[in-house]
Amino acid sequence: MAHDCYYITTPIYYVNAVPHIGNAYTTVCCDVLARFHRQLGQEVLFATGTDEHALKVREVAEGLGMTPLAYVDTMEPKFKQQWASLEIAFDDYIRTPEKRHVEMVQKVFKKLLDSGDIYLGSYEGWYCVSDETFFTKTEVTDERCPNPECRKPLSWVKEENYFFRLSKYQKPLLEYMTSHAGWLKPEYRANEVIAFTRAGLKDQSVSRTNNGWGIPVPGDEKHVIYVWFDALLNYLTVAGYLSDDKKFARVWPPAVQMMGKDIFVRFHCTLWPAMLMALEVAVPDMLVGHGFWTVDGEKISKSKGNVVYATALIRELAELSGSPEDIAADAIRYFLLREVPFGSDGDFSKQALISRFNSDLANDLGNLLNRTLSMLHRYFGGEVPPGAKNNEELAHQADTLAKEVRAALDDIQFSKALEAIWEFVSSGNKYVEQNAPWALHREGKETELAEVLYNTLETARVVTVLIAPFMPSAATKMWRQLGLKGSPGSVNWEKDVRFGGLKSGTKCGSADPIFPRIDTAKSTLQSKDQKSEATKPLIQFDEFKKLDIRIARILNAEHVEGADKLLKLTVDTGENEPRTVVAGIAQHYQAETLPGRSIVLLANLAPAKIRGVESQGMLLAADVDGRAILLQPDQNEEAPPGAIVR
Ligand code: MSP
Repeated sequence: MAHDCYYITTPIYYVNAVPHIGNAYTTVCCDVLARFHRQLGQEVLFATGTDEHALKVREVAEGLGMTPLAYVDTMEPKFKQQWASLEIAFDDYIRTPEKRHVEMVQKVFKKLLDSGDIYLGSYEGWYCVSDETFFTKTEVTDERCPNPECRKPLSWVKEENYFFRLSKYQKPLLEYMTSHAGWLKPEYRANEVIAFTRAGLKDQSVSRTNNGWGIPVPGDEKHVIYVWFDALLNYLTVAGYLSDDKKFARVWPPAVQMMGKDIFVRFHCTLWPAMLMALEVAVPDMLVGHGFWTVDGEKISKSKGNVVYATALIRELAELSGSPEDIAADAIRYFLLREVPFGSDGDFSKQALISRFNSDLANDLGNLLNRTLSMLHRYFGGEVPPGAKNNEELAHQADTLAKEVRAALDDIQFSKALEAIWEFVSSGNKYVEQNAPWALHREGKETELAEVLYNTLETARVVTVLIAPFMPSAATKMWRQLGLKGSPGSVNWEKDVRFGGLKSGTKCGSADPIFPRIDTAKSTLQSKDQKSEATKPLIQFDEFKKLDIRIARILNAEHVEGADKLLKLTVDTGENEPRTVVAGIAQHYQAETLPGRSIVLLANLAPAKIRGVESQGMLLAADVDGRAILLQPDQNEEAPPGAIVR
């Protein structure tokens, strides 16, 4: 369908935890499509955000002794930091407690109450707090959530609820699904949706008893609106539904709505389009359900301690490869989209990431551009030589490739698009090997040499345009190295993917490798144990309360005999007697500079003898690459010895 605006959405994320690599996958997929459509010159509205009225948010906030609203506010910067590090260029970021959303949801609820599609009834059945899902008796076999990704214990709920007449839309939904091939992607998922719909859709409870967190039901504040009903409507809020008619007319319906397979069938392919049908609003053009990621073969889970966060992974890869963080982020984006055919489940491992980094990026892509640029500098002073002819084969391949990439992305087949691009990269590299420009130079065949370098650089230029949506920073750096102006993300796509665009006389930049090869022999991959250090399981506030952390002041510091890393500190902890604490900081702090300093001490750690000295507590320090960096209270405030830290 032709669109004024390419509107693409991610699900809105629960805020009980920072997004991990699995959640990030959904957002990266959307970002690539959004960037691609911007390249095509379309107006794009790429929306993401957070789903904040969940019960578990209330539980987490309570555990932290915070109000839900105070807690959710702390999460926005954390989400935005993850997205910024992954170079996610969203156009709108919606949070469900925002006024624009609350007002719209209440208007919709009222509208459906008035039309009779929402009615008051009573609910008795199972509820999964983690998935925020109602389940019927027949769906539940062992009092645990039937969703295989969840399996948490269920709660039995009996309460007065408002219901949405979902059953009424079973038939129209089935008709729509069966007559619109390609509406659901990948297409094999459509069968599951059709089977689920055919099995019968029961009216859906759309309210819960108001316990102080959620959007109140208009006119009946004993209830709050069911969090999924509230959350799905975010897509309408962003589009300006019932608030900005002009915008809504331009933006609606969404071109693509992307999500994981766990929330595809029940929520996005049945409840959501039925809600739209009830509102007499067009359903989205395409609903897309991707697969799930595991890490090292296991389900991503806090209790397993295998959660991978984008920011930490980017930092680690940047360090390992010696590349800047934006390039490391690009490599991770590439890995996620290349590693599995879209729709399938994938397994993330650092070994697999490094191996893709080295083979596809450092070797294949690196060779194509850097090797050629070095020769251009050596043989032609870094300037694109005049008079070179297009190599017909490469030019023809570029033409087909552009069409292939476009078709693959229209069909949401990222790995297919990347495979096709990499075939072209290989053709470029083979062309260099076959024509051996170094030999042409030796033999003084200047015209042929110019032609080979020109065609290889031109291959690299076309590749740069095509990879820009996937790897925006690397593409920009390649563009600069090719001596080109502007940005590969905002080209005239139709024209710039055509072979032959590089002008003679263009002064190219230096040939620094963008993806420096990782030395796998030296690469210090974190072991499983170290990993669980980085992501520990959640603890309850009660467990935290067992720790006696307090401010202490160092009175004296001396070396522990025979141990060059240890200092024996005498510290004032606000108690009657000073304590002795042994700390492994001797290599980073000189003993004589320490007396008078305030530190943070874990005071109720069981005493232990270290090198014959009894240590009565543990000083807290940040571990930065093995360096101990002392924590100390705010210098502008008075925090006396004995002050409790919590
Ligand atoms: N809040 C709901 C969505 C409401 S949209 C109206 C929600 N949030 S979520 O934070 O749990 O999940 C958000 C996205 O992350 C979903 O697309 C989900 O499928 C995806 N993933 C969560 N774990 C994942 C993996 N392990 N692998 C891939 N995607 C994963 O559901």
